[in-house]
Amino acid sequence: MSRVIAVYNQKGGVAKTTTCVNLSAYLALEGKKVLLIDFDPQANASSGLGHPAKLNEGSIYHGLFGLAEPEALTKPTIFYNFHLIPSSQHLAGALIELVNIPEREYKLKQFIDKVRDKYDYIFIDMPPSLSLLTINGLVAADEIVIPVQSHYFSMEGLSQLLEIIELVHKNISEKGLKIAGAVMTMFDENEPLSHKIADDIATNFPHTIFKTRIPRSAALSEAPSYGRPVILHDPNSTGARAYEHLAKELIAQETTRQFQMPSQMMSAAQAVHNVTSEQVHPLPNEADILIDIKVPTPQPAAQPQPVASGEEPVRQAPFGSAQDKQEEPIHDDAFYF
Ligand SMILES: Nc1ncnc2c1ncn2[C@@H]1O[C@H](COP(=O)(O)OP(=O)(O)O)[C@@H](O)[C@H]1O
Ligand SMILES: [Mg+2]
Repeated sequence: MSRVIAVYNQKGGVAKTTTCVNLSAYLALEGKKVLLIDFDPQANASSGLGHPAKLNEGSIYHGLFGLAEPEALTKPTIFYNFHLIPSSQHLAGALIELVNIPEREYKLKQFIDKVRDKYDYIFIDMPPSLSLLTINGLVAADEIVIPVQSHYFSMEGLSQLLEIIELVHKNISEKGLKIAGAVMTMFDENEPLSHKIADDIATNFPHTIFKTRIPRSAALSEAPSYGRPVILHDPNSTGARAYEHLAKELIAQETTRQFQMPSQMMSAAQAVHNVTSEQVHPLPNEADILIDIKVPTPQPAAQPQPVASGEEPVRQAPFGSAQDKQEEPIHDDAFYF
C-alpha cells in the first residue's frame, strides 16, 4: 500500500525541501519505491536533485492540468527506485489558472491517483504559504509530515497549521488527513533555545513527534548545490545519519500506525492555540479560498497551453518495464541497490 505524504509547514525555510529530498533518498536506500513531486514553483527539490527547472520541459504544472501523463514527467535520480517529477515557474501561474476550472482542488489528487500504485512512498514538497496549490497538495495527501524548525516562532505556526489541516479535512479531503508526525529540524544540541522549543512542542503538540531530531548540519545545506541528496555528498555527516534514522522511523510506522484521527484534530488545534494564543497571527488572506472551496464554477476550463517550444517531455519508463531495466544511470557516480 502506498503512502502519499505532504511535507508541509506554511512557514518557509523550515526544511520542507531538505526533508523531502533526503527522506526520499534514504527510503529508496531501504528498498522503497519513491516518487518525489516538487510542488513548489521555486523548484528547490528539482535543482537539489540535479534537475533545475526548465521552462521548455514538462513539469508537475503539465500534470496538474492533464497536459502530460505522469510517466512523461518522471525524471531519474541516483537511485533506480527514486523518481522525481520536477517543478517549474509555470506552477506559479497555475494558482490563477486553477481558480476557474471544475474540481480545482482535486487536480493533484487526480494526477497522483494515476501512479500511486507504482510507488511505496509519494512525497509532495509543498510550497510555503496557504493557497489553492497548498490545498491541492493537502487534498492529494494521505498524511502530513511537519518539519518544525527549532526556532522561537515555531509554536505559533503550529497552531495555524493544525487549523488549516482541519479545514481541509472537514471541507474537501475525501479520505481524511493523518498527521504522520512533526520532526524537529536544524536542531542545535548546544543551544538552550533548541531544547526549550523541543520541550514546548513535546508538551503541547498533541500528535506524534518523531524521535529523530535533524541537527543543524553544513553537509545538509551544501548538498543541494551539488544537485545531490546528502547521502552522496557526506553520508557520514550528522545530518545524513539523522535522515537515515528518520526514514527508519517512517518505515516503522507501516506496522505500528497509530495516527490520531482527524476528528481529534480540532481539539488538538485548540490545545496548541490555547498555549500560543497571545502569539497567534490571523491566517493570511489567501485563506479565504477555503471558505468558498465547494462553490461550483460554471465557467469552462481555461485551458493552459503546453510549453512554448512544443517539445515533448522526456519519457521515462515505469518501474519494472523492460525499458527501465536497460536504462543507464544518469550520473557518473550513481550507485544502485
Ligand atoms: N538541518 C539543516 N542544517 C543546516 N541547514 C539546513 C538544514 N535543513 C535545511 N537547511 C537549509 O535551510 C534552508 C531552508 O531549507 P529548505 O529545505 O529549503 O526549507 P523549506 O523547503 O521549508 O523552505 C536551505 O538553505 C537548506 O539548505
Ligand atoms: Mg522548499
